[in-house]
Amino acid sequence: MKHQERVFSGVQPTGNLHLGNYLGAITKFVTLQESHQCLYCVVDMHAITVWQDPAELRGNIREVTAAFIASGLDPKKNIIFNQSQVSGHAELAWVFNCVARMGWLNRMTQFKEKAGKHKENASVGLFSYPNLMAADILLYHATHVPVGEDQKQHLELARDIAQKFNVDFADAIKAAGIEDGLFFPQPEPLIQGPATRVMSLRDGSKKMSKSDPSDMSRITMTDDQDTIAKKIRKAKTDPEALPSEVDGLEGRPEAANLVGIYAALKGCSKQDVLTEFGGAQFSVFKPALAELAVEQVSPIGEEMRRILNDPAEIDNILRNGATRAREISEPIMAKTKEIIGFIQ
Ligand code: AMP
Ligand code: TRP
Repeated sequence: MKHQERVFSGVQPTGNLHLGNYLGAITKFVTLQESHQCLYCVVDMHAITVWQDPAELRGNIREVTAAFIASGLDPKKNIIFNQSQVSGHAELAWVFNCVARMGWLNRMTQFKEKAGKHKENASVGLFSYPNLMAADILLYHATHVPVGEDQKQHLELARDIAQKFNVDFADAIKAAGIEDGLFFPQPEPLIQGPATRVMSLRDGSKKMSKSDPSDMSRITMTDDQDTIAKKIRKAKTDPEALPSEVDGLEGRPEAANLVGIYAALKGCSKQDVLTEFGGAQFSVFKPALAELAVEQVSPIGEEMRRILNDPAEIDNILRNGATRAREISEPIMAKTKEIIGFIQ
């Protein structure tokens, strides 16, 4: 089965959208809209795998949607929607709950991190989270998935699920008229560039995250100019000057992180940054980085605030996106049910 190239990605509406989300994922979404059919999903069903206050969840769904649009995603060109409005996600996730093996999910490092010491207390949804993510992608037969580095293992699982389904149901897939047996494609992760893993500004060994208790650890997309500048000024560094070669960043996680952020914001490589700033102290590099970050991020925050003033319009965009998403997913879900042997 020849699969048309199609992009799918998701962002959880769990608040505190940050520079890692922007550089690791959203900027990639913006580039891909020029060359591909793209679906960008606010994954509210993933969000509730840990407790979410209902009023905050509603606000956060709108905030991610506003961030998409303020960053330059065109809701006419792309399909922008929230997961829970398209029931196929939950339906296919159930099927994948029955395809994926316990052993596969037991290896997922994100579950171990999120569940922490209290595994017995984690929701069942948090454990089966990767199956829902595989369903998100495969419900549209998506072929390309732009994500940050932390999602690599989940993407590998999605590939394994696609393959196992194709093998388990090989005869039924042929009987359904798919000669080569490749009903589900193998989705490819797109994890590229200098900022696939943006680290905390307070600790270069931890990734920048929405849930870090310290607001100083991350630059959020809605931070104002002064806050962005202050967070960069206070970012942890070491006492050395910047090296002039990328190799010289080894063993210097905080320096490597700031150079990576600069490169991603500027659209150049880390080496380009070091060619310009090699030998410079952080007292010179940090103000340059702050200026660049303020220039790029603060207009997006302002645009987000403007868009969020009209929640009814955001809800319209999401409803319209869901209608268009269903047009693609419904025939695929129907075919999946036929293959499994469900009567429709
Ligand atoms: P999440 O907020 O977990 O829904 O993540 C949304 C997207 O941002 C995913 O593609 C993540 O891989 C990406 N992402 C999250 N945190 C970071 C980070 N610190 N650096 C780079 N990408 C990230
Ligand atoms: N798990 C992803 C994250 O936390 C979000 C996500 C859900 C996703 N479904 C997806 C990303 C499908 C890509 C494709 O970052």
